[in-house]
Amino acid sequence: MQTRIDQTQAAPDAAPNGAAIDPTEGVLRTVEPPIAEAAHLLGQDDPGTATVDAVVVLDFGSQYSQLITRRVRECGVYCELVPHDAPWADLAPLNPKGVILSGGPASVADPGAPQLPGWVLERGLPVLGICYGMQLLAHALGGRVAAADRREYGPATIELLAPDAPLLAGLPPTLEVWMSHGDHIDAAPPGFRVLARSANSPIAAFGKDGDGGVLLGLQFHPEVAHTPRGADLLRNFLEGVCGCRPGWTAASFVEAATREIKEKVGEERVLLGLSGGVDSAVAAALIQAAIGDRLTPVFVDNGLLRLGEADLVREVFARHFGMNLVHVDAADRFLARLRGVTDPEEKRRAVGAEFVRVFEAEAARLAERDGPFAFLAQGTLYPDVIESTTPDTKAAAKIKTHHNVGGLPADMRFKLLEPLKFLFKDEVRAVGRSLGLPPEIVERQPFPGPGLAVRLLGEVTAPDLDLLRRADAVVREEIEAAGLANAVWQYFAVLLPVRSVGVMGDGRTYGRVCAVRAVASQDAMTADWARLPHDLLARIGNRIANEVHGVTRVVYDVSSKPPATIEWE
Ligand code: XMP
Repeated sequence: MQTRIDQTQAAPDAAPNGAAIDPTEGVLRTVEPPIAEAAHLLGQDDPGTATVDAVVVLDFGSQYSQLITRRVRECGVYCELVPHDAPWADLAPLNPKGVILSGGPASVADPGAPQLPGWVLERGLPVLGICYGMQLLAHALGGRVAAADRREYGPATIELLAPDAPLLAGLPPTLEVWMSHGDHIDAAPPGFRVLARSANSPIAAFGKDGDGGVLLGLQFHPEVAHTPRGADLLRNFLEGVCGCRPGWTAASFVEAATREIKEKVGEERVLLGLSGGVDSAVAAALIQAAIGDRLTPVFVDNGLLRLGEADLVREVFARHFGMNLVHVDAADRFLARLRGVTDPEEKRRAVGAEFVRVFEAEAARLAERDGPFAFLAQGTLYPDVIESTTPDTKAAAKIKTHHNVGGLPADMRFKLLEPLKFLFKDEVRAVGRSLGLPPEIVERQPFPGPGLAVRLLGEVTAPDLDLLRRADAVVREEIEAAGLANAVWQYFAVLLPVRSVGVMGDGRTYGRVCAVRAVASQDAMTADWARLPHDLLARIGNRIANEVHGVTRVVYDVSSKPPATIEWE
């Protein structure tokens, strides 16, 4: 699991206990859930004029909680994931039209199990409990939750018993659903009717209309892809039950966010570290749409990028968007800093620290030339915000030091501008598309902050970077030509510090080994090696061995994550 020790998130005013930041380590930063800001963004401070409705998901610890939130947003309704014990006062500004209770690992009757906050039933809002959330409703309202003698996990077929229920509108009499629960409901609370049953769950869905608001429960998971009509169920809840209008779109976000940025920045100036990645690119395009050339994007070329990337960034931002792009060619500095470094963590720290120094020097130079910058913009995303407030993530073991566009030195007193902190990655891509960013930027695969330094095992040298870049370009070209770019999560080459004997013509060769890595994944937390067609692998292997002189052998990485990670270092 990735840790939240992330230099991208390191900000001086957010250091714990006011501690200075060690630029080589980064800090754990807790970002407050942006509810008040989101409410302002959606116009909820004046609900009479608001055009985007919202619901909240209370997080009882399910691995699917974020997914529920994303699915709701895909239905065009803004949604925030909040801790299960969040007080109503924190959520009230958002004016939620409904509440979803997530699943969770606990048993409702266990001592210390998270309970239903009193306000959920008192507010009279429509409530949808999913799995543990449904059990909480049953437990609180006089139903009976039975302890599991065995877990039900996997696909199931449910039979719908109440076609007139708005939650089930337009659905066929039977549905394929995904079950993942231990406890189940033995008896529905008084006043509830059973809406669906399955062979193993006589109460697979229940509901109660009435004065206190509509209360609904699903034993299965409508948010996962294995429940093919799950989106219809959620849409029925949001539109049919809560009365939400689907107004949350990339275009509505861009309109509201540009207004917000203008208001927040006023006449000040903004500095932004452009990495070439999706997040900083979309942040740059959005901020430019709001404040034009009072944004100065700084692109630090660390010499660890893939073939053609630095040119692409310049082409898109300087030429196409006409930005005042400041291009800093720092390849030599990074190479010098990496000399003799072979330990993976040390490489990551070295790249992070050097980035901070280069960025700091550039910021000082630009401030001297053009006057001070009040804001530093970052491409922080909503999952960063959520995860920074989740206790188990804070405690997570550090596996790799994460580095994106650098932490901030403690004596840089910027205010932060993080316009993407409301968005999930797929929403960021949609916003990027609506701002006119080209697919090469918006659809690009994840790329580690330390770049090719962690794909070149052993010491990083200029000739080896050149070999790796050319091998990597072959992998990219061939997978893209085969039309598999979107089917594979990440694909790249890795250069190993190993030599192997080969033969070319009549001569013996003794060259390097190059590994090809291609993985399928949903979220990079787990991954499986991609089953690429053999013909494609053959083309990749042939081309690398023939075109990249110095590589004699090409191997395909068949490790999944866990136990391996996606990157080799
Ligand atoms: P691992 O190698 O831990 O990588 O399985 C998981 C995902 O994270 C990406 N990655 C990074 N992304 N800064 C980033 O922004 C980093 O330092 C970094 N290191 C790994 C990796 O490419 C994969 O998608």
